[in-house]
Amino acid sequence: MNEFDRTFDAARRPARATFRQLEIFEAVARNLSFTQAAEELNLSQPAVSLQMKQLESSLDVSLLQQNGRKISLSDAGQVALEHSRKILQQLCDMAAALEEVRVGERGRLRITVASTVNYFAARLVASFLREHPDIDVFLDVTNRETVIAQLHDQVPDIVLMGAPPKELELDAQPFMDNPLVVIAAIDHPLVGRESISLETLMGETLLLREQGSGTRIATERFFQTSGMTPRRIVQMRGNEAIKQSVEAGLGVAVLSRHVVDLELKANRLRTLAVDTFPIMRRWFLVRDPGRAPSLVAQRFCDHVLSQSQLSHQGAEAQRAVRD
Ligand code: PGA
Repeated sequence: MNEFDRTFDAARRPARATFRQLEIFEAVARNLSFTQAAEELNLSQPAVSLQMKQLESSLDVSLLQQNGRKISLSDAGQVALEHSRKILQQLCDMAAALEEVRVGERGRLRITVASTVNYFAARLVASFLREHPDIDVFLDVTNRETVIAQLHDQVPDIVLMGAPPKELELDAQPFMDNPLVVIAAIDHPLVGRESISLETLMGETLLLREQGSGTRIATERFFQTSGMTPRRIVQMRGNEAIKQSVEAGLGVAVLSRHVVDLELKANRLRTLAVDTFPIMRRWFLVRDPGRAPSLVAQRFCDHVLSQSQLSHQGAEAQRAVRD
């Protein structure tokens, strides 16, 4: 049973009053005058009288009582006025809510983000909701592989991820650089050393994200292109597990700079100055071009693109390292 079923009993037939009659009745009751109500509503006085008679007949009560030349509300009129105002208010609220849907200020938005994006997606969604408080956002955080499966099934309205695979026909716009950096524990022997070669890095235990992670795909592709194979790999699910293990001295890792910002500032992790790093990737705003975006989705895209931070260097490097 939905909200409407609970509040509306279809078995009890609604009175056969029209909204226009309720509006006329409300104006008559407020002015206690047919003439003034007619003027206010741009109707003739006989038209107002006729509508009032029809309303009384369909509700089967007298709403007004005549005292000489003056009119006043009967008890039934008082009750009917209270309800009429609520009904008319509901109609106004409905029109206002529909207008908000029409201009994209109300509605639902399903956003899926790659797990690494989550480190800044919450901020993007929060600033968006400050400007559009009546939009309901459903945020799903998952790795690249699942994001692609969701895109395939047309689940999300919008996706934020690394470059989507070329074989999928998608509308993808870059909006932020995504530098992948090498991180190590603060007491790691390579910390502070300049110009560390890739060969030296390959001698370290490398903590890698799970299969299906975009960070992992980009890292492996980078090593392949450089003709390098790490000596020892330990695989872990998720960025958090890797950060904690690196901090504990289990090995070094290649992660998005966005993931380790806080730890670097708090001096809990350090970046290593490995040659050719950072690997420059980009974050993309992705949509299925076969689905017309809702206004709400369009608003979110505009918001993301208005915060866009892209460097020229990122664009150059992206050509070298494509997903
Ligand atoms: P993740 O990042 O799957 O490694 O979290 C997404 C991406 O880089 O595409």
